[in-house]
Amino acid sequence: MVPVAYSCSACGRASPKWFGRCEECGAWNSARPREHGDAQVVEITSLENATPIARLTTGSCEVDRVLGGGLVPGSCILLTGEPGIGKSTLVLQLARGLAASDTSSLLVTGEESLDQVRLRAARIGVDTGGLRAGASTSLENIIVAAEREQPALLVVDSIQALAGEGFHATGSVARVRECAASLIAYAKRTNAVVLLIGHVTKDGVAAGPKALEHLVDVVLELQGERAGILRVLRCLKNRFGPCDESAVFVMQTAGLEPVADPSSMLLADRRPGVPGSVVFCGLDGSRPYLAEVQALVVESQVPQPRRVAIGVDPRRLAMLIGVLSQHASLPIVKSDVFVTAVGGIAVNEPAADLAICTALWSALTEVAVDARAVIVGEVGLGGEVRRIPHADRRLAEAARLGFRSGIVPATTEHAPRDFEVARVPHVTRAFSIARSELGESHGEPCYPLLREAQQ
Ligand code: TYD
Ligand code: MG
Repeated sequence: MVPVAYSCSACGRASPKWFGRCEECGAWNSARPREHGDAQVVEITSLENATPIARLTTGSCEVDRVLGGGLVPGSCILLTGEPGIGKSTLVLQLARGLAASDTSSLLVTGEESLDQVRLRAARIGVDTGGLRAGASTSLENIIVAAEREQPALLVVDSIQALAGEGFHATGSVARVRECAASLIAYAKRTNAVVLLIGHVTKDGVAAGPKALEHLVDVVLELQGERAGILRVLRCLKNRFGPCDESAVFVMQTAGLEPVADPSSMLLADRRPGVPGSVVFCGLDGSRPYLAEVQALVVESQVPQPRRVAIGVDPRRLAMLIGVLSQHASLPIVKSDVFVTAVGGIAVNEPAADLAICTALWSALTEVAVDARAVIVGEVGLGGEVRRIPHADRRLAEAARLGFRSGIVPATTEHAPRDFEVARVPHVTRAFSIARSELGESHGEPCYPLLREAQQ
């Protein structure tokens, strides 16, 4: 039954939606929210003695940490990611972890055959009982099966594949929401954890999962370049814990393996002393990590120069190119520009601006930046270098990995011991420091594109 949400203050007609004019009596602007008696009100401090949430541990410390300590019974989790990124693999590993502590799971697949699920389970080495699977796309059948099996975790792979008994087409936003609402109600009723898998594409074409974010308790996102092996699991929303945690995994032949030290891994293949390469210290949730940003600037052969950004926000790159051209006199607007965050972890925070600018400057001037320096800072439209969040945590991570100096915003207060920082107010100051103090090629630098531009 549809809950009644509004009624006409003139004639009392009920409607599930807000209305401008009552269809019954013709009164304008008479819609009022329906009241269903008094809401229960309590003193907040009286809730302190309530029993703490008993969470289920998934057997993966990293996933438990991202969730804020494990799965909360009766909650609904949405796991999103691009097709092929490893969502089904991750949930199977979680179910395996739960089975190891005698907690039952039911995997319902609407996309694959049970044989495919079996092959995946064999691949990641599932050898315990307590893990049951079914293939169905019918919402009603899934709920009936779950009520019979009573699993502690019900996984629906995927929410887009479900068909309900409504009028809406399978996979449509309305259907996806309808099915999710029924499954959330099931979770609340039975105290089972419901995990919904939702596909999203890079450009967000399949908007279905986005429409669910406000309905569910927890939103997790699995990210990475499909061609690479790195995957980042991020928590985007969590009603039961912090919502900025993340964990890094590598996709191996037998499933996803946590990476204890992402920074070392991301910097492993780096070749120091190469122009256009800069080390940036990012923050993924509360965890700092170091990553290499590379830039290449080449003379363009086409009327509209190419701009390629991989793992970097293309709009920010366009903005920074404008800033460098206007406020640092770098002749870059007519060149092809390529920028990548090497290793497959996207560097999407404004704090990466100064690293991207310095990488572009270094590529253009062919002056290599000191390989033991990290560069952090947000760049404003006037070329000014602005404050970034948690600079201290980032610099501490850099110091931990043996970096000895950094170029940071002028407003940065603390730096680790034995760590030399150059506080810069403007991008041009960062470049002159990179050239004079931190630059490796102290000889006469060669500026092919600069020279041409001056001629
Ligand atoms: P999958 O979990 O099916 O992705 P999703 O459910 O997000 O669509 O896994 C996708 C890819 O991962 C697939 O191309 C094969 C690869 N893979 C591994 O490399 N190792 C493994 O152990 C497994 C199970 C999959
Ligand atoms: Mg899948």
